[in-house]
Amino acid sequence: MTNAEMTDLRSHIDALEDQGLLSRISAPVALDYELSDVAAAMQRADAGAALFTDVAGSPWPIFTGGVASRRLAAVALGCPIEQIVDKMGEVLDPANALPTDTVDSAPWQANTVRGDEVDLTALPIPIHSRGDGGEFITGAVTVTKDPVSGRGNLSYNRMLRMGRNTLGFNVNEWRDVGTFMKSRPDPDAPFPVALAIGLDPAIMIAAGVRTPIDELLIAGAIRGRGVEVCRGVDVDIDIPARAEIVLEGMIHPATRAPEGPLAEFHGYLGEMWESPTVEITSVSWRDDPIYQTIVPGWYEHIYIGNVLPREPLLRRFVRHLDAGADVHIPPYGNGFLAVVSVDRDDPGTPRNLAMAAMTAHINIRNVVVVDRDVDVSQPSDVLWAITNRVHWSDDVFTVPHAQGHEMDPVADNRGVGVKVGIDATYKRERREYGERVAYAPVDLTRYLG
Ligand SMILES: Cc1cc2nc3c(=O)[nH]c(=O)nc-3n(C[C@H](O)[C@H](O)[C@H](O)COP(=O)(O)O)c2cc1C
Repeated sequence: MTNAEMTDLRSHIDALEDQGLLSRISAPVALDYELSDVAAAMQRADAGAALFTDVAGSPWPIFTGGVASRRLAAVALGCPIEQIVDKMGEVLDPANALPTDTVDSAPWQANTVRGDEVDLTALPIPIHSRGDGGEFITGAVTVTKDPVSGRGNLSYNRMLRMGRNTLGFNVNEWRDVGTFMKSRPDPDAPFPVALAIGLDPAIMIAAGVRTPIDELLIAGAIRGRGVEVCRGVDVDIDIPARAEIVLEGMIHPATRAPEGPLAEFHGYLGEMWESPTVEITSVSWRDDPIYQTIVPGWYEHIYIGNVLPREPLLRRFVRHLDAGADVHIPPYGNGFLAVVSVDRDDPGTPRNLAMAAMTAHINIRNVVVVDRDVDVSQPSDVLWAITNRVHWSDDVFTVPHAQGHEMDPVADNRGVGVKVGIDATYKRERREYGERVAYAPVDLTRYLG
């Protein structure tokens, strides 16, 4: 399948299956906890995406984990693994944005319930982690429109099911949706919204980007053609035409209710929020739809929110110092850790690189600099370098009172904390061990079946 042929979740699933990166899980699983337990274990093992076909209480199959590792991101972006950062850099450049393509009808218009018929308890919304405060929609992309400029916007907002037609809607006030609502003459007036579930991963990846342009245009840049959009049945918003399921309705900014906790990006459960509510006025779906969820606080969440959109700028910062440097933001570090690899030149270079990485994104707190013989995408390899190449009293430096993310679990309430650089490169001037033991990589499936 070519990159341009991936248009929806169904073609994504086909592409994953072609590359041996999809498990169709027909063993029965419970919607609450068990589905997420299985998906989380798969993500930790980089075992591919999951399509659960027998979920107790769910009328539909449930897909998850499509963008949870480098291998999976490469399929989603339609490029080789080595080109992921290049491709993300290209598509994040507004000059490469591709306008949407408006169509008159969408497959999801095949089935619609409206008004009193809306019953959100019919949707297979999981309880993901054991500490979650209820059933949360986590894999929907929120589609809104700037009331001033008219441009579209994509975002992720966790949503707690509160009743037959009500969801709690989590939004940090400074995000685009919050700004849109506040920019109106009456900031408390109902605000139209569409929630698209089950999407081309280009749209999933684009929705995690924070940018002043319509993220659908970034999704277009990923595919090299405009994303098809269609007006909603209730709201005047351009909604991805090939979504599996679409919920439309109104956010009520002043009708707030407690929602939470939910597994957060930083790896803890987080707190309760007094959030706006959404009144759902219609639910539409394709024939035989596939529900999609993101296991919160886990690899896919981090990949979409913290890895893919941030590695290009991180790489630009370190390459300003060393054109040959490479970078990775590993998903197990929740966006707080960056790994930089270099051919070490001067003994002080790793520290300069670490400082550059710390300033590339406010969240980056710990930076490990390794040599080229360390695979930055392998946690065991990075830990090997930390164990075998770091003289702790000499090779670690700290930057106290640095600004980080206010939700960083080791920073204070305003995000001020200590940034740490670890020079895990081999210091030949200290002692000479020669080359590191290495075995050639092999495709194990050829040997193990
Ligand atoms: C899986 C996932 C869940 C997220 N959940 C929330 C959320 O509940 N509330 C929120 O304000 N932001 C959340 N975010 C962050 C933003 O919605 C998202 O990164 C988006 O890019 C916001 O950009 P915008 O301000 O340009 O719209 C989440 C991000 C991801 C990847």
